[in-house]
Amino acid sequence: MDGFETLKGKYLGAVASAASESALEEVRLAALGKKGEISALMSTLGKMDPDQRKATGAALNILRDEIDAALRAKKSALGDAALDERLRSEWLDVTLPGRPRRMGTIHPVSQVMEELTAIFADMGFAVAEGPQVESDWYNFDALNIPPEHPARQEHDTFFMHRAPGDNRPPHVLRTHTSPVQIRAMTEQGAPIRVIAPGRVYRMDMDQTHTPMFHQVEGLAIDRNISMANLKWVLEEFCRAFFEVPSVELRFRASHFPFTEPSAEVDIRCSWTGGQLKIGEGDSWLEILGSGMVHPKVLTAAGVDPAQWQGFAFGMGIDRIAMLKYGIPDLRAFFESDLRWLRHYGFAALDMPDLAGGLSG
Ligand code: DAH
Repeated sequence: MDGFETLKGKYLGAVASAASESALEEVRLAALGKKGEISALMSTLGKMDPDQRKATGAALNILRDEIDAALRAKKSALGDAALDERLRSEWLDVTLPGRPRRMGTIHPVSQVMEELTAIFADMGFAVAEGPQVESDWYNFDALNIPPEHPARQEHDTFFMHRAPGDNRPPHVLRTHTSPVQIRAMTEQGAPIRVIAPGRVYRMDMDQTHTPMFHQVEGLAIDRNISMANLKWVLEEFCRAFFEVPSVELRFRASHFPFTEPSAEVDIRCSWTGGQLKIGEGDSWLEILGSGMVHPKVLTAAGVDPAQWQGFAFGMGIDRIAMLKYGIPDLRAFFESDLRWLRHYGFAALDMPDLAGGLSG
């Protein structure tokens, strides 16, 4: 029996000093493994006489259980220590601010298109589209601009080529988004409420003009729509778009062939220290053209002017983008300079919506 006390001391000591799970496993194998010391002693029991076998067997069982218990306890302690060590070394401060990862940037024109689409959608306007290569009928005639009309010259139109001998009037790159009014009314009839943002083209290039730029057309036709509705919609739009509590608009009588009466609309603003502020001040800035849709335009689109009436407007998107985001030079919009985009661009996954605050 005394031999067992020695064995017990030996293995419990080994268990206590095992510093890792693999060292502990070696102790287990040496004692309780198939070829371990305790197992070897167990296999000698068969050769003993019954009394001796009983006493030795019981003592060996106790010894095995004690070593086994010590092994388990140590194993769990080593496991806890390993976990503590991991927790310490893999510690993470979840309160640190995130590191934003750039996934490209949204161009200010795209951002503004998303913003104005969200605002007008909220007022019940759907988005309509038309081709950029347009027939001269849609771009001019249907909008009450006949061939001899001086407005045709003012539009600095790009004409497409026709095959030699083809004497039909050439298609044009649309000079405004107004032809989408005709297409939308022809397709959907009245009542109708649409906006049409998109690219337009004019042969012009200086600090405030590029041959391609962007407009958004608005059209609302119903039985009783008036200039008052136009005024409310535009004020509501400007307030939401420029993210100011109130705006003041000024309607100046003007002339467009496709509206009667027509008005150009200015917004009240101030320039202090080169900084533009919308909604206050002594200056006015023209932002769009508008009016009541001309009966001839309704007729051209198959809508009966005796039953239906409404307003239309056309606004320069690049212009209002420059105003809202303080971008000084229009030409930079189309130079694809990545440094410019990173400065003026918007995060790719940041979709504007009215509830979340338009520009984030
Ligand atoms: N199409 C005009 C332009 O490009 C803008 C415009 C003015 C559109 C008045 C309209 C409108 O719908 O009613 O200059």
